[in-house]
Amino acid sequence: MKRTSHIPELRAMVAQEKGRERVIALVPTMGYLHRGHLTLIEQAKKSGAFVVVSIFVNPLQFGPNEDYSRYPRDLERDARLLEEEGVDVLFHPTTEEMYPRPMVTYVEVGQLDSMLCGAARPGHFRGVATVVSKLFHIVQPDLAFFGQKDYQQYLIIRRMASDLNLPIEICAVPIVREEDGLALSSRNVFLTPEQRREAVILSQSLNEAERSIQAGERSAREIETRIRERITRESHGVIDYVEVRDAEGLSEVSDIEGPVLIALAVRFGSTRLIDNKVVEAE
Ligand code: PAJ
Repeated sequence: MKRTSHIPELRAMVAQEKGRERVIALVPTMGYLHRGHLTLIEQAKKSGAFVVVSIFVNPLQFGPNEDYSRYPRDLERDARLLEEEGVDVLFHPTTEEMYPRPMVTYVEVGQLDSMLCGAARPGHFRGVATVVSKLFHIVQPDLAFFGQKDYQQYLIIRRMASDLNLPIEICAVPIVREEDGLALSSRNVFLTPEQRREAVILSQSLNEAERSIQAGERSAREIETRIRERITRESHGVIDYVEVRDAEGLSEVSDIEGPVLIALAVRFGSTRLIDNKVVEAE
C-alpha cells in the first residue's frame, strides 16, 4: 500500500492507474477505522477498482462546540488495517494541505442539509459536501462508497453528484452493526460501559418500529412517539430527534405509504449517536 499526504503525489498515482485503464474507487473516511469502514473498503475492492482510502478529520464539518479536537485518531493502526484489506493508496492530508488558506468557496446542498442532523448541526453538511467535493476533484474517482449509517449524508452526496453532473457513481453500503445491534461508529469508544449497554435501545426501537409498520401501523407520528417513549423509558439517552421521513427525498410524511426512513439521534452523556432504518410499507 502506498501512502501520501500530498495532493500532487496522489494525483500522479491515480493518473498512472488511469493510464492503465483501471477503474478508480474512493472511500472517504475520518479514520479510527472499524468494521463499518472496512466493509465499505471490501465493497470497493470487490468492484476490481484501484482503491484509494482517504483519512481526514475535516474541521469544516464540526461546529464550534463539537468534538473536532477530541475526535479519535490513530493513523498507524488505521494504516495497518488498510494494508491488510489490500487498499492501494492511503491519502491522509494535513489540514494545511486541504485548506492552505481560509475557504471562501463552499458546496451547499439545499433543503436536504437543513433537517434531521442538519438542524442540530448548522453548517455540518456544507462542510461535508465541500470536503467530499474537494476529495472528488483531487482523486477523480469513478466510484465512491458511502455508508447508510449516515443516510442523510449519502443522499446529500448523491444529490450533489447529480446536480453538478459529476461523473462518479455513488455506491451505498448497508449499516454494519455490533452483535447486539448497535451501529458501529468511531464515537462508540466514548461510551461508558453503562451507556454502551443502554445504547442498544436505538436499534431495538428501530426494529420494533419496523415490526409495527409491517403489522399495519401507518401513522408516522405514532411510530415516532413510540420510539421516543421507549428510549426515554429504558435509557438515560437524551433525544435530539426521532423522525419518519420519505426515504428518497426526506420530505415529511404523515401516512406511511412508500419506503420511509426512520432516523434518530440520541445523546448519551456528551456522545451523540445516530441510527436509522429504511422500511417499506407492504
Ligand atoms: P466517517 O464517520 O469516518 O465515515 C466514513 C464512511 O463510513 C461514511 O460513508 C459512513 O457512512 C461509513 N460508516 C461509518 N459507520 C458505518 C457503519 N456502522 N456501517 C456502514 N457504514 C459506516 O462520514 C464521514 O466519515 C465524513 O463525513 C466524510 C464523508 C469522510 C467527510 O468528511
